[in-house]
Amino acid sequence: MAELDRPQAEVAVPDDWTYASAPESRDIVHIADRYGHFVGGEWLDAAETYETIAPRDEEPLAAVGQGSEADVGRAVAAARDAYADGWSSLPGSERAKYLFRIARLLQERSREFAVLESLNGGKPIKESRDVDLPLAAAHFFYYAGWADKLEYAFPNRRPRPVGVAGQIIPWNFPLLMLAWKVAPALACGNTVVLKPAETTPLTALLFCDVLRQAELPAGVVNIVTGDGRTGAALVVNEEVDKVAFTGSTEVGKEIQRRLAGTGKKLTLELGGKAANIVFDDAALDQAVEGIVNGIYFNQGHVCCAGSRLFVQESIYEPLVAKLERRLATLRVGDPLDKNTDVGAINSAAQLEKIEELVASGVEEGAQIYQPPCILPEKGYWFAPTVFTNVAQSYRIAQEEIFGPVLSVLTFRTPEEAVEKANNTPYGLSAGVWTEKGSRILWMAQRLRAGVVWANTFNRFDPSSPFGGYKESGFGREGGRHGLEPYLDFEESETFGG
Ligand code: NAI
Ligand code: MG
Repeated sequence: MAELDRPQAEVAVPDDWTYASAPESRDIVHIADRYGHFVGGEWLDAAETYETIAPRDEEPLAAVGQGSEADVGRAVAAARDAYADGWSSLPGSERAKYLFRIARLLQERSREFAVLESLNGGKPIKESRDVDLPLAAAHFFYYAGWADKLEYAFPNRRPRPVGVAGQIIPWNFPLLMLAWKVAPALACGNTVVLKPAETTPLTALLFCDVLRQAELPAGVVNIVTGDGRTGAALVVNEEVDKVAFTGSTEVGKEIQRRLAGTGKKLTLELGGKAANIVFDDAALDQAVEGIVNGIYFNQGHVCCAGSRLFVQESIYEPLVAKLERRLATLRVGDPLDKNTDVGAINSAAQLEKIEELVASGVEEGAQIYQPPCILPEKGYWFAPTVFTNVAQSYRIAQEEIFGPVLSVLTFRTPEEAVEKANNTPYGLSAGVWTEKGSRILWMAQRLRAGVVWANTFNRFDPSSPFGGYKESGFGREGGRHGLEPYLDFEESETFGG
């Protein structure tokens, strides 16, 4: 008893509950001063370079090659040689060994990759560490498993590889998009030329070291860095048999025009303006977490982000109040801090686009809410934003913002929710929050979206296909479906034959 009676005066009671900074060390990453292109298993010196920076403070990180048409040509030739020299005829079980090795190496080096991804791209370390890296490794593991089972995946269709795949990826999930593209291509026996986005080339360049460790035969994967001009050179190269693109709808349409009539295979994963729909019987606190994850994850630089929130009218006020309260707890700041929820905007150009669209929302009459938060002086930053009083015709309800900006709209009936949700040129993803299973199925049948999440959002698994309707593109990545774009089929004449 005496112990309990003793006054606790010596234990200081904190009066400030803000988080102390908890920066992840960047010592684990070595960044070279200058990078060339990775072609035929070797580094090709780049005649022209540009500087890649850290968006959190605009620190220059490295000089990176601006790939020319000739660089692209060399990479494609190396891929063609590697294809003919054995990769395409290697037994699937042998290809699988390389993919398993790559997957394990990514796991082993995951901290290094996560730090570099956050440094070069601006996303919070907790996301690159807990989402991007585990999922990238999982994609390689998953497709490694398919490599020797293609005949079972497509019975009676005699699958064979397509040839050289030209792959162009964006800056929002640099290593993960690389994994989505490279893993199925190699599993199916193709070789690859990949072009990372201009603002985030560093993890793709580090990945070349993983390929060396895995002893992948030279030329099976080639990486050429540079901007849209490099991408365009890859698209039109005549030795490329298949093009896979993830990025803006504008560039996707341009690529489709370029390839029309060439016979090249094409998949496009483009923009989105997803509806996240909350019914009045949903668990509101969970829904709020899902809404926050849906739009503020990765600063909203997510093609399937839940950027249009549809709330059933009867719960509009309590839900918006909860959401605004939750927003005030998000920590915006240094991507390398382990406590950061919302990191830096990827580039000056993207920040400008977000600012312009947000200004248009205010101009058109929507009500803006931003929690009080102090943004760093240097670098590219934007506070988490919610717009209420939004009409469907406003630009913020129609156009992809690709930033931490949510537009809230309302509905009364399920029919109205479906009609409003589908009122967009896009169709990549959607979310439904309700207690009723039958309503989830009813909604999922009617929503024109490639993925419909129920009582969750932004969930990914390599075994689950992902892709769009309408202007969000075509073709699927992930799952067994994700193999198809990388295969040609020699359909047998008779069933079972
Ligand atoms: P973008 O479509 O220009 O860039 C994506 C990739 O395509 C990059 O690697 C880029 O170098 C390459 N590229 C650009 N022009 C090309 C061309 N003519 N031929 C071949 N490749 C080309 O996207 P950007 O300009 O970075 O972002 C603009 C908007 O696009 C964003 O604000 C966002 O709304 C949307 N976007 C959507 C993405 C998605 O995941 N669906 C990813 C990135 C951007
Ligand atoms: Mg662009």
